[in-house]
Amino acid sequence: MIEKIEELLVEVNAFQSQNKDEIEQFRIKFNGKKGILKDFFEKFKEVPNEQKKDFGQKINSLRQAVEAKLEALKEAISSNIILEKEDLTKPAFPLEMGSRHPINLVRSRIIEIFKSIGFAVADGPEIEDDWHNFTALNLPEYHPARDMQDTFFIEQNPDVLLRTHTSSVQIRYMEENEPPIRILSPGRVFRNEAVSSRSHCIFHQIEGLYIDENVSFADLKQTIQFFTTELFGKSKIRMRPSYFPFTEPSAEVDVYWGLNSETDYRITKGTGWLEIMGCGMVDPAVLKNVNIDADKYSGYAFGMGIERIVMLLYQMSDIRMFFENDKRMLQQFGHL
Ligand code: PHE
Repeated sequence: MIEKIEELLVEVNAFQSQNKDEIEQFRIKFNGKKGILKDFFEKFKEVPNEQKKDFGQKINSLRQAVEAKLEALKEAISSNIILEKEDLTKPAFPLEMGSRHPINLVRSRIIEIFKSIGFAVADGPEIEDDWHNFTALNLPEYHPARDMQDTFFIEQNPDVLLRTHTSSVQIRYMEENEPPIRILSPGRVFRNEAVSSRSHCIFHQIEGLYIDENVSFADLKQTIQFFTTELFGKSKIRMRPSYFPFTEPSAEVDVYWGLNSETDYRITKGTGWLEIMGCGMVDPAVLKNVNIDADKYSGYAFGMGIERIVMLLYQMSDIRMFFENDKRMLQQFGHL
């Protein structure tokens, strides 16, 4: 009987198959309810006591060999080493082409426009500290204007927060670089907003910063006009006085969209004007915070929400769509 087991052991070790049915038959033959192993274990009872030890060891090693073999074959199948019989002349499945997300499309377009007049792109962390997001931007702790940006703080450490705007990147850049500075800071920002069709707790901004000698408000206006002409094909803009703690004077920029269609009426609420960004001359207090000589240098900054511009350009009505990953929405941008 021991010889028989040894023969079977050789058979088990030599077994190879690339076919699931064959492997299943092998399993039934050895490990099945009426399989060889079961049979041997039954016979074990009848084996004389002095042979039990040898016999037991042999069936055990057979059992282990069967299990190891089955395991190895199973693994080979699942890692596709073994190909199922397939018609290799069949045409392949069509490759699914991805498309760029509309936020990325528009972000790239905006960067391209500003690159053409000398702006570089600067990056910074999404998890910020109080200094870079608020204090250095002339927003000290007690300042009521902090309420304009409802913020996600870390409970254990209020010095750590999710950036509420990418102006924090401008501070970091000014700390590290000397003027002239001409940068764009695109990126994801976070605010504790109730989510609705118009606002979200996550969105994207692009901010711009220009610091040099003799930079004036006229430079700011000219730059923005160039930008709106390039992006929307619309050059009529107006600047309304506004307030930001880090710029003085500050303004909101409206683009004249026109009133040529029903949609124009709807999106401009019948006025023809659309607000697209905030801007202003960098407050000297901000320059001081980053050790730039405010008597020698001046500059402007602007900031806009990318989602809002995408919604305008593609007539999308719900900001939540950007984060849903619904292919039906995304596929519409496949040709761009
Ligand atoms: N950081 C401002 C915001 O997020 C936008 C802005 C940037 C305004 C630069 C003026 C100048 O609300």
